[in-house]
Amino acid sequence: MNNREKKIIVGNWKMNPPTIMEARRIFGGAKRAASKIRRAEVVICPPFIFLSALAQSAKNSRNISLGVQNIFWETAGSYTGEISPTMVLSTGAKFTIIGHSERRILGETDNQVAKKAVLALKLGLRTIICIGENSRDEKGEYLNFLKNQIKNSLQGVSGKLLENLIIAYEPVWAIGGKEAMRPGQVEEMGIFIRKILADIYEQEAAMKLSILYGGSVDAKNAEAIVYQGNVQGLLIGRQSLEPESFKAILEVM
Ligand code: PGA
Repeated sequence: MNNREKKIIVGNWKMNPPTIMEARRIFGGAKRAASKIRRAEVVICPPFIFLSALAQSAKNSRNISLGVQNIFWETAGSYTGEISPTMVLSTGAKFTIIGHSERRILGETDNQVAKKAVLALKLGLRTIICIGENSRDEKGEYLNFLKNQIKNSLQGVSGKLLENLIIAYEPVWAIGGKEAMRPGQVEEMGIFIRKILADIYEQEAAMKLSILYGGSVDAKNAEAIVYQGNVQGLLIGRQSLEPESFKAILEVM
């Protein structure tokens, strides 16, 4: 994997902003910023309810796509309150995040993450599976935790489905915090994760997968995380809701 390939910059809006008007404004900023850059593709993941409106605005614009923050593991049926990947695709959105730590805290299991990933990948959604340890310990138990989480979250994802798979490494302790992980550590973790992926799949396939970093990324640390940390992109929470900061992040890619 070399540094010259296009980076993937994903904005995860979470349960923000409060109104469709605000959503349009923030998305407009991202769209303008994305149209001016060459070295990254931009993905915005708003709440489902804003997806259709923003899809209109995303049509015909270059370098920006839409994604969602979660999907269900069936295409249709009696599942009150759930949204299927087929529905997501029908809006023109191309990506889905799955297994974000904020969903795992609410009870989402590795098994559910895997079921969602298998269906999303089969249907052709570009699928960003989030993984990451909750905390660190001196004995390095967190590495075992991560290994199990990766293996279990990819259960049933066969080598044939890897084309649209993206891994987002988000150490939970760095999400919504003050400081991101240092680039050197990001690089180490990227190597560790790729090694686990090479255990599950072929070495060559594992080398081709994109790994993103997420957790307190901002305009000051983004460049070093990507280029020294040697990751293929970023998953950005808070700063993706601030058009000026998001633009500044895109400009250093
Ligand atoms: P943050 O969130 O950038 O606000 O830390 C990242 C994420 O949860 O994806």
